[in-house]
Amino acid sequence: MPAEAVTRHDYTGDGLSEEDLAPTPWLQLERWVADADARAVDHDDVYEPRAISVATVDAHGVPNVRTVLLRFLDERGPGFVSSSDSTKGMEISANPHVAAALTWPAMFRAIRFRGTIELVAADEVEAYWASRPWASRISAWASHQSAPANSRAQLEADYDRYAAQFPDHGRPDDVPVPETWKGYRVRATEVEFWGGRSNRLHDRLVFTAVGAGGGAAAQDVATVPSLDDAAAWTVHRRQP
Ligand SMILES: Cc1cc2nc3c(=O)[nH]c(=O)nc-3n(C[C@H](O)[C@H](O)[C@H](O)COP(=O)(O)O)c2cc1C
Repeated sequence: MPAEAVTRHDYTGDGLSEEDLAPTPWLQLERWVADADARAVDHDDVYEPRAISVATVDAHGVPNVRTVLLRFLDERGPGFVSSSDSTKGMEISANPHVAAALTWPAMFRAIRFRGTIELVAADEVEAYWASRPWASRISAWASHQSAPANSRAQLEADYDRYAAQFPDHGRPDDVPVPETWKGYRVRATEVEFWGGRSNRLHDRLVFTAVGAGGGAAAQDVATVPSLDDAAAWTVHRRQP
């Protein structure tokens, strides 16, 4: 596709000023996610407000990125569910350092995270599993995520087999949680709030965990502070 075929948009967002920035990354994150959720209800230009891209690296240090959905969100950081057998699951178990981004182009906003993965506690994962529709729970059993698939027909046959094994009685415990189905939480040491402005003169305000310095992902996950601890974060502005 020729470059001139791509429409150029001027980003007419409000941006983000130091005065408007919340005192902690958690409060700013909560505010922007709430705005995106509301926008998805009121407009048709934000379809999946909680879609988050998560980047990992493989054993050779080569990056990999995919989109997942935000399923856990609190002061510890954004979390998602996935299979520990998947490519991402295996990359995370070999190297827990990740980057992630929530991007809302229609709102001229993005949030970027750098940090380290910690596993979400089993009881939190089970509570979320129980809230999933029966068919989604069956799919989790049928899919060996990221492994080669013989055919679409084989996938559907596997789905039918698990559907017969765990029939839908309308109860949250109809389908057990697969052993490989895990929750992953990003414990961030750097959180950037990006606000698109006119003429490409965007705002970038970055919270960095005190002590994390330039090595945003180099910290032991046990020492990563709460996103809501104002004393644990410093803020600086980056050039667009
Ligand atoms: C909007 C959207 C939401 C998705 N949500 C999830 C999710 O929550 N968990 C998940 O494992 N994969 C999800 N996927 C699929 C992943 O992008 C990816 O294909 C899958 O996790 C396998 O990635 P991997 O092979 O790198 O491990 C989603 C894809 C899209 C486009």
